[in-house]
Amino acid sequence: MDKILVRGGRKLAGEVQVGGAKNAALPILVASLLCDGPNTFTNVPNLRDIRSTIDLLRHLGANCTIEGNTTCVDASGLNTHEAPYDLVRKMRASILVLGPLVARLKKARVSLPGGCAIGARPINLHLKGLECLGARIELAHGYVEASCDRLKGADIYFDVVTVTGTENIMMAAALAEGVTILRNAAREPEITALADVLNRMGAKIEGAGTSEVTIDGVEQLSPVNAAIIPDRIETGTFMAAAALTGSDVTISGAQPEHVKAVIDQLRRTGALIDVAEDRIRVRGGDRIESVDVKTLPYPGFPTDMQAQFMVLMTVAQGASLISETIFENRFIHVSELERMGADITISGNTALVKGVKTLSGAPVMATDLRASACLILAGLVADNTTEVNRVYHLDRGYEALEKKFEALGAAIWRENS
Ligand code: EPZ
Repeated sequence: MDKILVRGGRKLAGEVQVGGAKNAALPILVASLLCDGPNTFTNVPNLRDIRSTIDLLRHLGANCTIEGNTTCVDASGLNTHEAPYDLVRKMRASILVLGPLVARLKKARVSLPGGCAIGARPINLHLKGLECLGARIELAHGYVEASCDRLKGADIYFDVVTVTGTENIMMAAALAEGVTILRNAAREPEITALADVLNRMGAKIEGAGTSEVTIDGVEQLSPVNAAIIPDRIETGTFMAAAALTGSDVTISGAQPEHVKAVIDQLRRTGALIDVAEDRIRVRGGDRIESVDVKTLPYPGFPTDMQAQFMVLMTVAQGASLISETIFENRFIHVSELERMGADITISGNTALVKGVKTLSGAPVMATDLRASACLILAGLVADNTTEVNRVYHLDRGYEALEKKFEALGAAIWRENS
């Protein structure tokens, strides 16, 4: 397993290009199942999760090619309704094929994704939504078995805001008979991006990006060419790195509108942030002010930025309260940060972070995607060298992160062990 080493204390400087959004690319690639013919997607990040998705789409019979950051998917050859455990277990978001398979093939057998390090990750709302559309759902032997005659539009309320739940049902409803209304829908930019692609395929979706989405089902969809939106979490990760190291860094190819909550929070810590159309300049100061933060569904502060922001607070002036309201176990990175000298006390879903003068480099263990990024950030400001192990977690969601930080001046390198 690879590890990444960081020698702390270096300032960063210059410009970094942000890549395509993993969490937009995954549902958009899966949406190719809804139509026959070649879809071409550009600005697709070169990540493990993308490759896992392509493996699954190929298993289902789609013809897929990846050339750099361009991916083509043609589902004309769709020939099975089953997504097996050995593919789904590699990436939970594989559950996104459930809605499209039921819509296209009138049946699906998809392995239950199971939980992960940050939480149980149930899919009850995905299943409730499909049942509302008329699908018959059975759970047997670790699989979801769904079938229908033809999905029919329905008025669906999500008890909890769910990103992939909203995406799954939106894709299924696109080919249902009649109108579907999704209430308490997720509002993330990735939802809007998916709806834009579906509408270009011929779907009739209104209200994406708001909590009420209306889908007027159609008979058939057609293939499209589309570009993936920039990754707002990668953007936020570089913004946090600049604020953390007191550096002057410009993130280009970004979508400032998608990171407003992160901009607001970082400004409260004392960072100077200038925003232009597709770039964000962050200048970190000599001191970091402690700021409380609570993770919320979009447009609130994103849970996927909680660990990265916590690193900032570990070396801030004073104490801050960080509340994680989305996932029940998303403080795993805390014990690793404590091994680097951070002063953090957890009580329920809240962490009290007391700023310390400096962190100390140490061997640490990545446990999930965003925890990996936070440990690299911590290494940037820790004394001596930090060794981040199990970086396969990182490679799921960041394309060559260490190369991008090296280009900004960090002393960071990967060792294949
Ligand atoms: C998406 O996960 C993202 N993944 C996650 O990013 C992100 O952290 C999360 O949304 C929240 O923003 C992708 O888009 C591929 P949810 P998702 O359904 O859709 C509960 C990363 O680091 N819930 O919005 O799985 C659930 O337990 C990843 O890139 C139910 O109770 O998250 C959680 O408490 C990590 N029943 C809350 O809703 C359901 O049926 C939000 O989960 C579904 C969800």
